[in-house]
Amino acid sequence: MIMDMVSNIKIERSATSKLPSVDFDNIQFGKQFSDHMFVADYKNGEWTNLEIKPYAPITLSPACAALHYGQSVFEGMKAYKNEEGEIFLFRPKDNAKRINVSSARMCMPEFPEELFMEALKKLVEVDSDWVPTKEGCSLYIRPFMFASEELLGVRPADEYKFMIFTSPVGGYYSGEVHVKIETEYTRAAEGGVGYAKAAGNYAASLYPAKLGQDAGYRQLIWTDAKTHEYIEEAGTMNIMFHIGDTLITPHLDLKTTLAGITRDSVLTIARELGVKVEERKVSVKEVVAAAKNGTLKDVFGCGTAATITQVSSITHEDERMELPALTDRMLSNEIGQVLQDLKRGQVEDKHNWIFKI
Ligand code: PLP
Ligand code: COI
Repeated sequence: MIMDMVSNIKIERSATSKLPSVDFDNIQFGKQFSDHMFVADYKNGEWTNLEIKPYAPITLSPACAALHYGQSVFEGMKAYKNEEGEIFLFRPKDNAKRINVSSARMCMPEFPEELFMEALKKLVEVDSDWVPTKEGCSLYIRPFMFASEELLGVRPADEYKFMIFTSPVGGYYSGEVHVKIETEYTRAAEGGVGYAKAAGNYAASLYPAKLGQDAGYRQLIWTDAKTHEYIEEAGTMNIMFHIGDTLITPHLDLKTTLAGITRDSVLTIARELGVKVEERKVSVKEVVAAAKNGTLKDVFGCGTAATITQVSSITHEDERMELPALTDRMLSNEIGQVLQDLKRGQVEDKHNWIFKI
């Protein structure tokens, strides 16, 4: 059944390419979009109209349910090209699984993993010239699903669109990343939707993030909703602390934090490098104490867009703690290098993380 759907993906190629207008030496994150997109419609309980077509605006009813009640989930992943022109995706099957975890929480239908993989593969093949080769650059891939039904009553919609588009990108952050531990606003609460990559989580983060940016912080470190004493994640990244000889990161048990694919990769690589790893509750107190007694060697965020982003300073209640120079961050520098080599197919892929197009 799914294989029938896969063979039914229609491809309509664009008559002209926007590629000549792209300056690959100056790519900004998420400002330019490749020539094609994938679209599928969910109607009467099944996915239909599977198509790759020219990237273009779509028409929606003003009563489109996603616009009102927020049934909308997304994913983010990247394709890399090596000097030989080979294209690699990093752990795409994990994104295929995770979008369904997010959808289930938002009462949305499953998008079959095999179909996700096939649509992704075909789309990246069609736009393979858009995958940058320059070090630090990649093709960001954005799969997403939203309720498209015309609907005013509050209930799970019966109609959805699943789409994928891509965008050549460079780094997400440039310059130093100074962060503040947020102790007033909350990103996610127990029983809520923090573990889902749901659009509303990002909308809710914008106001506190803006207040933080106005005060000079690039990102916020989110803390638990009940006490603000325990750290959860940093902006749109998971967060890691290298304290003494241990790499420590907040656990996922409370379902308030996104189970990052980069997070899992970093922890796996750290363990293989012989580093002691702890996934547990991480208190603000212990991080502040470690910063003060000199055992806090490194703090970094990790995520698809941000890759590994080292934090330069952390502020907690008006107290700013400077962190070691970026060149001294042995662990994140080493893990970052291993990850980068892996993503470009330059080192042995022991875990089957790489999907070659
Ligand atoms: N946490 C949040 C809230 C995110 O948006 C992201 C980005 O996807 C991550 C963590 C990191 O997840 P991943 O490594 O799978 O990209
Ligand atoms: C990603 O890292 O893929 C994200 O989702 C971050 C983003 C919202 C740009």
